[in-house]
Amino acid sequence: MEKRYFSDKIVKWYLDNKRQLPWRKTNDPYKIWLSEVILQQTRVIQGLPYYLQFVKAYPTIKALAKAPAQEVLRLWQGLGYYTRARNLHKCAQAIVELHNGRFPKSYHNLLTLPGIGHYTAAAIASFAFGEPVAVLDGNVFRILSRIFGIDATVNTPEGKKQFTLLANELISKKQPALHNQAVMEFGALFCTPRNPKCTDCPFKTTCFAYNNDLVNTLPVKTKPKKARKRYFFYLVVEKNKSLLMKKRSEKDIWNGLFDFLLIEKQKPVNAEKIVTDNEFRKLFKKIETVTISKKYKHILTHQTIYCRFLHMKAPQSFSFANKDLCFYSPKEVAQLPKPVLISRFLNDQNPL
Ligand code: ADE
Repeated sequence: MEKRYFSDKIVKWYLDNKRQLPWRKTNDPYKIWLSEVILQQTRVIQGLPYYLQFVKAYPTIKALAKAPAQEVLRLWQGLGYYTRARNLHKCAQAIVELHNGRFPKSYHNLLTLPGIGHYTAAAIASFAFGEPVAVLDGNVFRILSRIFGIDATVNTPEGKKQFTLLANELISKKQPALHNQAVMEFGALFCTPRNPKCTDCPFKTTCFAYNNDLVNTLPVKTKPKKARKRYFFYLVVEKNKSLLMKKRSEKDIWNGLFDFLLIEKQKPVNAEKIVTDNEFRKLFKKIETVTISKKYKHILTHQTIYCRFLHMKAPQSFSFANKDLCFYSPKEVAQLPKPVLISRFLNDQNPL
């Protein structure tokens, strides 16, 4: 594939095939930024309601900066990787405090903001300000590796360097925004990881991978690490129609979200064994009933959690000496930002 034809061809494909999406109808860097941060987390179909929700709750960057952190986490709930939501909030505050509420206009200055990495800086700089800097993510690596037949490993620094150089060579200097949108859309709709639409593809005659039967081989990636297995037993303590919940503050997943008292085991154990354990009996001697939930499997990027919830009814006199633990009413429980695993349990069998 000749490099000089790439941009015109992909932009033409884009104009014929693009989806109508709200963030494509605006030059507002705030909305572009919001959409891109959400779309790094999920696909367009799942991300769209979150985007609309955020724009409605916080129509401007100032509104987002002023919002309570807990409320931002609550709106983010379900997207996962909550550091992104916390950074979103911090970045809004930094723009309001340091830049008078206006986004810096260049790729390099955007990179100085909290939570804005190369991808997001390139997206904002090109979509909102027309700077010819290429977006680089899994979509771009996949498209370039297939069309140009590049077998550099995409998830290594050397591989990334090679793709970055090529992507910036290919980008249209005249219409960088259209070029970048086109590449992202092509990766989402045609040149997909599995079952790409090769027979309808405009690059069919020149694509290296298609013509050399390498579509399923490219891009080359190093094997991902095996997911770590974790075994959770949540103690769902109910008293007076309220639930004991804990704000997580460990250096671990779900920092800042609310869950229940947690017993974690390194190996699978029988839930009955937890309940009959001496230590447990001592700690919860006044507890009346314990109902053990079904097993929940919850998959995160680098870990798989196997979990059961032990629902326990505590008498009026029950208290727990830990400042991070509090009883919350059903209304409060509904409002708190929670990991999806906790919401799944509450939706299945809310004890209240
Ligand atoms: N994924 C991330 N950004 C996107 C965009 N602008 N269009 C389509 N898919 C995307």
